[in-house]
Amino acid sequence: MSQKNQFDRVAPVYDGLSKLVFGSALINAQKKNLVNVPLSANVLVVGGGSGEILCDDLLNKVKHIDYVELSAKMLRKAKVRCNSAKVNFIHADIAELTGSYDAVVANFFLDCFDAESLEEMVIHLKSLMSPNAVLLVTDFKQPQMLWHKVLLASMLKFFKHASNLEAGKLQPIRQKLKAAGFNEHYLSFGLRGFVFTAAFKLVKK
Ligand SMILES: C[S@@+](CC[C@H](N)C(=O)[O-])C[C@H]1O[C@@H](n2cnc3c(N)ncnc32)[C@H](O)[C@@H]1O
Repeated sequence: MSQKNQFDRVAPVYDGLSKLVFGSALINAQKKNLVNVPLSANVLVVGGGSGEILCDDLLNKVKHIDYVELSAKMLRKAKVRCNSAKVNFIHADIAELTGSYDAVVANFFLDCFDAESLEEMVIHLKSLMSPNAVLLVTDFKQPQMLWHKVLLASMLKFFKHASNLEAGKLQPIRQKLKAAGFNEHYLSFGLRGFVFTAAFKLVKK
């Protein structure tokens, strides 16, 4: 497997593993952020995996969702889970996408990349956002507790082996976004500070 971040192999077990280790904490942390999605928005969900975020709370609020997934198996699961005319399921590398969105949702996606690719990805996501758009991110943050450090190291090792994960370590995602010109206007933490949920807008020049 030479290509990076290939989640097809883990797609059948991804949700089960997540629930086993974290219960509902990860999806609950993501759902908290939906309050920041503007009404009738044109939304991009990038790397949404098996589609748990495509819940009624999001669907009822928005006009349209482009759901872009690199993994065909993850995308298939998302399609089965959510049969809505509002969602356009796109099997693609987000790097190939062009467009302009009112909201971009990137949950547990930016943690897939090493420092250089993360910077490139952030610039690309910026290019997909309309001037007043919001970027919603839920992801892991640098762990303080020993148990979280052990868990993070195990996850990185597992996904390196199973998905050829590019990231060798967790990048400081919020700091990188701020350095790239994003203003954080909403922030909360879950799992005793191991997970953050944040909403960003582009700083106006
Ligand atoms: C760690 S999983 C997170 C899935 C989901 N967002 C969640 O919270 O459970 C990362 C997802 O990003 C997708 N992905 C990775 N690189 C991608 C890319 N370049 N373009 C689109 N999707 C990508 C993977 O296929 C995978 O489903």
